[in-house]
Parts: sequence; C-alpha cells; structure tokens
Amino acid sequence: MIIENQQMVTGAVIDAMSNAENPRLREIMAALVRHAHAFAREVKLTEEEFEQGLAFLNAIGQATNDSHNEAVLFSDVLGFSTLVCLLNNGNAGATETAAALLGPFWRMNSPATANGGSILRSPTPGPALFVNCRIVDVDGAPIAGVEVDVWQASPVGLYENQDDDQADMNLRGKFRTDSEGRFSFRSVRPAGYPVPTHGPVGDLLRAQHRHPYRPAHLHFLGFKQGYKTLITQVFVAEDDRLQTDVVFGVTRHLIGTYVRHEDGAPPAEGVSPPRYTLDYGFVMEPGEAKLPVPPIK
Ligand code: BEZ
Ligand code: FE
Repeated sequence: MIIENQQMVTGAVIDAMSNAENPRLREIMAALVRHAHAFAREVKLTEEEFEQGLAFLNAIGQATNDSHNEAVLFSDVLGFSTLVCLLNNGNAGATETAAALLGPFWRMNSPATANGGSILRSPTPGPALFVNCRIVDVDGAPIAGVEVDVWQASPVGLYENQDDDQADMNLRGKFRTDSEGRFSFRSVRPAGYPVPTHGPVGDLLRAQHRHPYRPAHLHFLGFKQGYKTLITQVFVAEDDRLQTDVVFGVTRHLIGTYVRHEDGAPPAEGVSPPRYTLDYGFVMEPGEAKLPVPPIK
C-alpha cells in the first residue's frame, strides 16, 4: 500500500499484521499499534524524542543481566506491573485481592526449610522477626501442602544477590503449609530500601524527582495445583513510605501488623529485645498453578 498521509499508517500496519493465526497475538498487536500511534500523535513526538526513547529501550536491555532485570524494574516504576497484577487477580480486578507484583528479586530453588525454621543463612544483624501465616481457600478452609517461597531484603535494605556480605540464599526459604494451612519461620525485620538506580530507570526517577524507595515488606509466593499461584507482599504498617512506594505495590489488604515486643518470651528465649511478630492470613483463589519466569538466576 502506498502511504498517502500520516493518518493512513495505522490502518496499514494493522492490515499487514492481520494474517497472524494466533487471534490473541492479532488482538494484542493491533491494540499496541493503535495506542502507540495515538500516543505519538497526542504528544507530537519529535524525531529527537523518538531517538531518545529508542536509546532508553536499548539501555534497558543492556542493563539487564543474570542478577539484575531492568525491564521488570521499568514496568514496576510505571505502575504497569501492579496494574497487570490487579487486572488478573481478585476476580479479574472486581474485588480486593491478596496479590501484589513479583518484583525483580524472586529466585527459583529457595532452600527448603522446616516450619518454624530460620531463613538466616549467614549472620544478619537486626531485630528478630517471628512470622506465623495461614493460607485458606475462598470458603475459609485451610489449604495444606502449599509450597511457599519467602524472600526479603536485609535490615540494611539489600537482597542477598545484591550484597557480598550475605550468604547465597540468605533471607530466602521454601515452606510447606501443614494440615491447618499454617507455616511459620524466623527472620529479621525487613527494612525499606531503594530499588536499583544505576541504570536508565534510575535516570528516569531522578529526572522526575521521585524517590527510589519501597516500604519495608516480606515477599511470598504460594504454589499448589488447583489454585492460582499467589504472589504477594506484606508491608510494615509503620513505614513512612507506605503512601509513596516507588512501584505502587501497597494495597490496604497487604498492610501487616508487625508487633513489637520488648520481652524474650518463647519462642524467643535468648533473643535480645526488641523482637517482632507478624501474624498474617492469605486467601488463594481456585485457578491454574503456574510459576512465573524468574527475573534473575
Ligand atoms: C521488590 O520488592 O523486591 C521490588 C519490586 C519492584 C522493584 C524493585 C524491587
Ligand atoms: Fe522487595
């Protein structure tokens, strides 16, 4: 087709893509082209801005490696990851959900850990935290045998893969719910932390005068056949940055009560105060058990 004017381009591209057998690919690509072209028209994108945008996308790829995923980070700071999460959980976005974005730091093969065990794999200074969780189905019945991955940043605000001072898999563990749907573990209270800012996403945040911090949280991934994989986070209610999470992950449902105790009562004998406890309940929806592609190795 000869392109007579700018208005013709959009339809020409959609036509050219219309022979894809996969109907979902057709639908997604046609919508992407419509919206991308409308965006360029709306902002009257200049050639310099277009070049800058392409350089930004290339820089995202170049900043990504086995231990860092800049593409996930880009989607996260745009709120896109949270949007996709909320559109796909809680009855397709109609109701509250226990789900939250995965983020770039989940790793496969966290160490299997007995219920009640510790996820400290190397000395990790910080206030002790005892976590007791229960997983139920939408009718409130306990779900036994859920495999639950847990991961968190240390009290200095780094995941083990970002920090040479932590052992491999420190503050990561894999649990299995018991017959009452319970699992529990010992850790240290998480701290808020800045997302990585060494790449193009950091440049963008600085240009927008946005702080790079996430409020303190624990991550959970619950997996069992017959249930939609539950990916979520539980936030520390007292964190000052709850309202301004750089990746928009905080929903009311996910604000946990991390209770501070000044004593060393069981199961905390020998633990110097203060210690914290978190009791939290998760609901898993019926659905397909699928693991995400790990953002890092
Ligand atoms: C995280 O919570 O691990 C995370 C989420 C989004 C971006 C960076 C980190
Ligand atoms: Fe995190």
